[in-house]
Amino acid sequence: MTEIKKELLYTGKAKDVYKVDGEDDKVIIKFRDDITALDGGRKDTLSKKGAYNALISAKLFEVLEEHGVATQYIKLVEPDQMLSKSLDMIPLEVICRNIATGSLLRKYPFHKNQKLEPPVMQFDYKNDVYHDPMLNDSIITALEIATQEQLDKIREITHVINKVLSKFLIDKGLILVDFKIEFGFDKDGKLVLGDEISPDTTRLWDAETLDNFDKDIFRKGEEGVVDAYHKVVNLVLTDEEKDKWNVEKI
Ligand code: TYD
Repeated sequence: MTEIKKELLYTGKAKDVYKVDGEDDKVIIKFRDDITALDGGRKDTLSKKGAYNALISAKLFEVLEEHGVATQYIKLVEPDQMLSKSLDMIPLEVICRNIATGSLLRKYPFHKNQKLEPPVMQFDYKNDVYHDPMLNDSIITALEIATQEQLDKIREITHVINKVLSKFLIDKGLILVDFKIEFGFDKDGKLVLGDEISPDTTRLWDAETLDNFDKDIFRKGEEGVVDAYHKVVNLVLTDEEKDKWNVEKI
């Protein structure tokens, strides 16, 4: 097992990032049980949530790597801890939507559950002081958040991610409604997918009932969010993976 040097580099709303002893190009990302929504207006700590999100993210990153998408992920070292490449993160939230719901319905005249073909892509500025405003290409380039070339590449990779994960998840009975991802640069300057892809950052609907298996349960103030995440773990992991991480004992 990789020893965590208890030197905290960064703490976010739901994850902590630690230094790895003697390896400056790697970090350990610890997924905490904290959950927030509504721009920090709703907060809670839900036992097991961190581990479930780490297990789901690890699985989806593995699937993406198998399809040629470069990710930050190296391996899980504990059910809630991911050894990852250290990245210089781009402060963008890249949101990709296949079905109109959430803020898209609050802000624009889309029909509820309208299919979005091609998917709608949006960039938000990851900046708490400014409350994550939506950006466009010229604001992004003027603020020097990314170059046009980098943005074009991010769009291209995000389309691939959407295709690969939509297919993987529908085969498990889940619709990938929308998701938020983040990118960064590794030590060689390569653009790499980072952060997480979990029910905290995606909308996953049961393909039969259209029930939520994601953070919308918490956003709506309903019970059962951790049970829903547990169900996603059971749907996406193989039996061997569930045994390896002793999922039922988490
Ligand atoms: P969106 O509909 O904009 O969010 P909300 O209804 O919460 O305002 O979210 C689209 C998707 O992106 C959804 O799966 C949640 C995810 N997302 C994040 O993970 N973090 C964010 O800050 C935002 C805005 C969205």
